[in-house]
Amino acid sequence: MRVVEAGGEQVLVLRHRGKLYAVSNICTHEYAELANGLVVDGTITCPVHLSRFRLETGEVLNPPATKNLQTYKIHVLEGDIFVET
Ligand code: FES
Repeated sequence: MRVVEAGGEQVLVLRHRGKLYAVSNICTHEYAELANGLVVDGTITCPVHLSRFRLETGEVLNPPATKNLQTYKIHVLEGDIFVET
């Protein structure tokens, strides 16, 4: 996992089961950094109130968060990773 700044946003870039994902690093419920969360089965769980989000789509899977997580497209060019905002 690595947090980068892209387009003025904190973006969490991570590899899970061989696939790269880029999602907002900030939970949609309250301020919490998802870089401190747990990644399991294609989801990331917020470390504060335990809302879970699907990495692929940002879909919120359980409360208290009600808003989906922002996801970003990733491009890999010659070994460099680019996040599209
Ligand atoms: S801050 Fe993430 S679920 Fe509350």
